[in-house]
Amino acid sequence: MTLPAPSERAFVPFVSVANMMALIHAIGLERMLCELADAIEADFKRWELFDKTPRVAAHSPDGVIELMPTSDGTHYAFKYVNGHPKNTRDGLQTVQAFGLLADVDTGYPVLLSEMTVLTALRTAATSAMVARHLAPKSARVMAMIGNGAQSEFQCLAFKAICGIDTVRLYDIDPDATAKATHNLAGSGLDIIACASPEEAVEGAQIITTCTADKQYATILTDNMVGSGVHVNAIGGDCPGKTELHRDILLRSDIFVEYPPQTRIEGEIQALDPDHPVTELWQVIRGEAAGRVDGRQITLFDSVGFATEDFSALRYVRDALERHAMFDRLDMLADPDDPRDLFGMLERARP
Ligand SMILES: NC(=O)c1ccc[n+]([C@@H]2O[C@H](COP(=O)([O-])OP(=O)(O)OC[C@H]3O[C@@H](n4cnc5c(N)ncnc54)[C@H](O)[C@@H]3O)[C@@H](O)[C@H]2O)c1
Repeated sequence: MTLPAPSERAFVPFVSVANMMALIHAIGLERMLCELADAIEADFKRWELFDKTPRVAAHSPDGVIELMPTSDGTHYAFKYVNGHPKNTRDGLQTVQAFGLLADVDTGYPVLLSEMTVLTALRTAATSAMVARHLAPKSARVMAMIGNGAQSEFQCLAFKAICGIDTVRLYDIDPDATAKATHNLAGSGLDIIACASPEEAVEGAQIITTCTADKQYATILTDNMVGSGVHVNAIGGDCPGKTELHRDILLRSDIFVEYPPQTRIEGEIQALDPDHPVTELWQVIRGEAAGRVDGRQITLFDSVGFATEDFSALRYVRDALERHAMFDRLDMLADPDDPRDLFGMLERARP
């Protein structure tokens, strides 16, 4: 007996890892980073429209699993993402992610997507978009500390969006630096592999820290951050998991995505709960000051916020109209009579 075929409404576009990579190559990585940065920035400008909540985190001794939901009233999105720094020792990724976009009117999903690769792009696009507002305009040299999965994406976003032409790489694992050096050869960036974090920050106007360790770490000490520098701190994004010495925070003007989440997860967990921070959306809308002088240390205390994933999923959904790089997943039940779910099950009896 032939089973009834799913109806058209049963299918949700699904972007696999293979299709995400094909989509990125079809658009061009640097172009996609620029377009994602613009999409993320545009949604920060609509800040008050979004439902906002600190992400829901399930901690375990070796890592965290998080759900990141938000909605602008028209679309709803969530991302599932983990962070397990010890994974790389077993040949696994530190971060894996997938996400879903849905139509608020019907509650029907309109896109299911891998988001491991997409998260690397959206995090890099966010960092560089923020640096466009906060870093010295003349910045050409970036120190990149932590040369793991996110690192090349960060370097290329800063090249495409901020005009960085030189990156100074450092990782405690020289193999990671060798991998990043190899991957970035031919990118148009000057790549300098460094033997210490102190060497990496020499002459850098932007310092990106992107390390993974499930404990308080001190990737940057106070003496390593001179005046005028912009710090893009990516890797401190969980309770107990930070990268910067507290004294750096006390000398910096600190910019955050969503304070209720960053106070739990970001570098500022080391500070008093009422330590002043500036919300990025206000800087992006021109309602708060960003960089005001050449000697100021600006710090983007990045933890990653749900609206950035929302923007990335909407971007991908739109891009699929030009590049049909998706599978159709039979994911939604669609009986002929909406109330006859049971009858649909019965008709499918083998
Ligand atoms: N803020 C965000 O939006 C966001 C998004 C994605 C990932 N992250 C975080 O970014 C970090 C990096 O992610 P990834 O996927 O690249 O991880 P990864 O495990 O692939 O790479 C991390 C690298 O850091 C290096 N490292 C660890 N301790 C170091 C130290 N003391 N000095 C120098 N290097 C050190 C490791 O050797 C490794 O190469 C993680 O902590 C992750 O949770 C943040």
